[in-house]
Amino acid sequence: MNTEKLKDEVSKRARIIDRAIEEFLPLKEPEGLYRATRHLFKAGGKRLRPVISLIVSEALDKDYRKILPAAVAIETIHNFTLIHDDIMDRDEMRRGVKTVHVLWGEPTAILAGDTLFSEAFHLLTYCDVESSNLVRGARMLADVCVKICEGQYLDMSFEERDRVSEEEYIEMVTKKTSVLIAASCALPAVLFGEYDEITAALWDFGIYAGIGFQIHDDVLDLTGREKTGKDWGSDIVEGKKTLIAIKAFEDGYVPEIFGKGKASLEEIEEAVRILEENGAIDYASKKAVEYVEKGKDRLKVLPDSEAKSLLMEIADYLVRREY
Ligand code: IPE
Ligand code: IPE
Ligand code: MG
Ligand code: MG
Ligand code: MG
Repeated sequence: MNTEKLKDEVSKRARIIDRAIEEFLPLKEPEGLYRATRHLFKAGGKRLRPVISLIVSEALDKDYRKILPAAVAIETIHNFTLIHDDIMDRDEMRRGVKTVHVLWGEPTAILAGDTLFSEAFHLLTYCDVESSNLVRGARMLADVCVKICEGQYLDMSFEERDRVSEEEYIEMVTKKTSVLIAASCALPAVLFGEYDEITAALWDFGIYAGIGFQIHDDVLDLTGREKTGKDWGSDIVEGKKTLIAIKAFEDGYVPEIFGKGKASLEEIEEAVRILEENGAIDYASKKAVEYVEKGKDRLKVLPDSEAKSLLMEIADYLVRREY
C-alpha cells in the first residue's frame, strides 16, 4: 500500500473520531477552562491511537461503534499527557499552534490536563459492552496512566544524570509512550471480551511499535524542523537522553548546546549536522525499524484480514512519518 492510500484509510477513520470528539466532549462552562482543554484537539493531530482502536475492532470482526467512547478516551488521555508534557519540556509549539500553558498559563494548563484525564474515564463507561469487560478495560487504562507518569518522571530524572543506558532508555519510553499505544491496540480486545492470547499479542504489538514510534519521534525532533509543528531541537536543548544522545555520548560526542536550555537555529543546525555525520541518527532510525518488525511479528496470531494488513502498514508508517 502506498503512503497516500494509507493516509486515506487513516483519515477516513480520523474523521469518525473527530465527530465523536465533538459529540462526546462539547464546550461547557466555565468556558476558559474548556477552551484550554479543547485547544489541542482543535489544532489537529494525527489521531493515530484511536484510529488504531477502530482498526483493531475491524480486525476482530466487531462493531467499532460499541467501543467508540473508548477510542475517544484514549485520544483524550493522549491530549492530557501532551498538555502536561509541554509544561515539563518547556515547549511553546505543538500541532503548529502555541501550547496550552503558553496561552492560558501553567495553572489552567494543569487543570485542563486533569479535566481531560477525568473525562476519559467518564467516557469509557459509555462503551456498549459487558460490564465485567468494562471493569477490565478501566483497570487497563488506569494502569497505563500510572505507567505514563512513571515514564515521564524517568524522562525528567534522566536529564539530571550524566549517562543513561540503552536499556534504561527503552524502559523509559515503554512507560511514557508505548503503553498508551499498546492500550489503543489491546483495550478494544479487552472490551469485546477476547481471549487472553489475542489481547496479549495486540498489547505486545503496541509496545514494540510504540518504542519504534518514540525513537522516530526523537529523530524527528532533529530532522523534522518546521514539519512537526513542535519546537525544533527541543530534546537536545533540554538535555533529553534520547537514543541519539546516548549513542553520540558513547562515541564521544556531546553537542555543545546539550542541556543548555536555549540555542540559536544555527547552533541546532550544526548539532544536527554532526549527529547525522557521525551516524547517531541513523543508528536510532535502524533501531526504530527493528522494534516495529518485532511488533508486527506478534500479530501472527490474528486471522488474516484487510484490517490486520492495515495495522501492519500503520506500524511501518510510525517510523517513516515526517511529522
Ligand atoms: C506525540 O504523539 C507524543 C509522543 C508520544 C511522541 P503524536 O506524534 O501521535 O502526536 P499527535 O497526536 O499527532 O499530535
Ligand atoms: C512525550 O514524549 C510522551 C508523552 C506525552 C507522555 P515527548 O516529550 O518526546 O513528546 P513530544 O515530542 O513533546 O510530542
Ligand atoms: Mg515533549
Ligand atoms: Mg517529554
Ligand atoms: Mg519528542
